[in-house]
Amino acid sequence: MALFGLLAAALLGVAACQAETVVVDWDIGYVQVNRDGYNNRRAIGVNGALPIPPITVTHGDRLILNVHNSLTVDTSVHAHGIFFNGTSYRDGAGQVTQCGIPPGESHTYVIDAVQVGTYWIHGHYKHQNADGLRTPFIIREKQPLHQYDDEVLLALEDWYAEESAQKMEQITQPSATTAPPPPSFPFGLINGYNGNDTKPIRFEPGKRYRFRVVSMATSEWFKFHIPGHKLEIIEVDGVDCKPIVVDGLDMGPGQRYSAIVTALDTDEFNYTYNVTLYANFIPLIKGLNPRYYQGLIEYRAGAPVKNLPPVSDRQLEWADDIKMEALDGMPELPVDVTFGLESKVVRTADNRNLRALNEYPYTEPQVPTLFTAFAMGELALDRRVYGPQTEALIVRHMDSVRIRLGNPTDLVHSFHLHGHTFQVVEYGPVDKRTIQVQPNSPLTLETLPDIPVRRSPGAPMRRDTLVIPEFQYVDLRFRADNPGTWMFHCHMDTHFAAGLAVTFVVAPDVLQRTQKLPESLQQMCLRQGLKASGNAVGNQGYDFTGLPPAPVAVPSNATKPLPP
Ligand SMILES: *[C@@H]1O[C@H](CO)[C@@H](O)[C@H](O)[C@H]1NC(C)=O
Ligand SMILES: *[C@@H]1O[C@H](CO)[C@@H](O)[C@H](O)[C@H]1NC(C)=O
Ligand SMILES: *[C@@H]1O[C@H](CO)[C@@H](O)[C@H](O)[C@H]1NC(C)=O
Ligand SMILES: *[C@@H]1O[C@H](CO)[C@@H](O)[C@H](O)[C@H]1NC(C)=O
Ligand SMILES: *[C@@H]1O[C@H](CO)[C@@H](O)[C@H](O)[C@H]1NC(C)=O
Repeated sequence: MALFGLLAAALLGVAACQAETVVVDWDIGYVQVNRDGYNNRRAIGVNGALPIPPITVTHGDRLILNVHNSLTVDTSVHAHGIFFNGTSYRDGAGQVTQCGIPPGESHTYVIDAVQVGTYWIHGHYKHQNADGLRTPFIIREKQPLHQYDDEVLLALEDWYAEESAQKMEQITQPSATTAPPPPSFPFGLINGYNGNDTKPIRFEPGKRYRFRVVSMATSEWFKFHIPGHKLEIIEVDGVDCKPIVVDGLDMGPGQRYSAIVTALDTDEFNYTYNVTLYANFIPLIKGLNPRYYQGLIEYRAGAPVKNLPPVSDRQLEWADDIKMEALDGMPELPVDVTFGLESKVVRTADNRNLRALNEYPYTEPQVPTLFTAFAMGELALDRRVYGPQTEALIVRHMDSVRIRLGNPTDLVHSFHLHGHTFQVVEYGPVDKRTIQVQPNSPLTLETLPDIPVRRSPGAPMRRDTLVIPEFQYVDLRFRADNPGTWMFHCHMDTHFAAGLAVTFVVAPDVLQRTQKLPESLQQMCLRQGLKASGNAVGNQGYDFTGLPPAPVAVPSNATKPLPP
């Protein structure tokens, strides 16, 4: 690996001279695999295989990702964390910036590496990422900002026995009760295979290793740490941070970190690293949750593994958004406009158990929201044309937007904003009187933990995916400097499928003046008999003939107020 590192450095030196076009061909199709050592199942792979090889490019390169759809259903692909500034139609979110790519057809995604850092590329059509359609996407700096000797990539996945379409249908179907469907708990994969089967990571005494840790999980949480070693975090979701030393990373679905680990001075012992997959959910799935995985940090072949006394998670220092600061020192943004959003559980009159972030559970429009923004002239500035269930939130160009996101429930979420990073300015407790817990919760007002208000001390950390703990609000800020239609959604697929999403429509007036919707994207809809222009249902103005009725919320006993 050390040799490889040197070689990579030499290649990097050459590549630094000029930008390259990197062409990657993906034939997306079904594969039969046993990834966790237990479940042989149908999955979605690329070029006949899983895992999908990670994609690495250099700052300034252009990635041409040619996708062919060999599935029997539509597909689309999203580069998570990439801004697509000026090319919002390349974001890949199904029914937001494009129709799905139909079976048998191809589409080319052009991804310009204008950012640097650790990202991932995944399916963004009907949660196909959970079936395997996901891989890390690394954009290296031309001149590394930090000095290190080698890189180690850890791609973390939760892997279920059942296919996601099956699971999502179960979640959104009418159901006689508000009881959640029977729990199924995934296995943990590291770099594509059973988390206990990973190759040893070679360390040489005194050398520095940049770990890129990518949570490609769909529903569950991952913790990572290397007993006996510290992690110096340098990058958070593609944003450089002031280096900060922690013991471990605790990651929600979609989050990424780079951290430098300095090898110890002696090769007397080997060490193990610990990866824990767990459901961040108060009524734990007993017996299965959590699952532990271990891998070897190999200093010397044949060296004994260092036996360290067990440490509880509470004794360790974990990465914390509010303690981290952006390296560029960007101060807290002022507030031009505030959107108050709240994660809610909704029971509908037709007996479905859904979720909402604003008024309605998010439902895909018939016309991709971006196409409506391009087509509606001045009306594009009126949120009504996008249809109520799309939950479009209109933002003026260059406004500084505050999202005050409340989570009065006992569920934890991992929220992702497309097209931007946001500042994490403040966390605090929600009003106790608004708290809703699940019927079997042991909590009362008296046993509720005291939650302090915590505010960023300096340059707030920016990231694109954020964990919001139970009973807390978070204050986020972003500059609306990227015209387009950008989803803000929970990255836990079961929550996303149930409607926990809104769409920010950023400066549609500027969008119409400065960008052009490719004809080929409209044709892709039309060939499938889908509409490609007009309001949310493809009509003119405020004619919503054909709009399915919005779900009517009824009182639910899925959650109840916290007992006194
Ligand atoms: C409320 O909860 C009970 C017990 O779980 C269940 O039997 C009942 O059907 C629920 N009512 C609704 C409207 O979901
Ligand atoms: C992985 O290996 C560790 C150490 O041997 C063991 O404790 C753990 O149960 C294993 N995990 C799984 C999911 O089998
Ligand atoms: C230390 O690592 C080497 C190389 O993987 C391995 O052969 C050896 O068994 C390890 N030591 C122990 C005690 O696991
Ligand atoms: C690492 O994980 C194992 C379980 O597989 C646990 O026994 C051990 O205490 C953990 N080590 C630390 C330092 O947390
Ligand atoms: C998008 O481009 C504009 C114009 O170059 C720039 O001002 C803005 O900061 C960019 N925004 C992002 C998110 O890249």
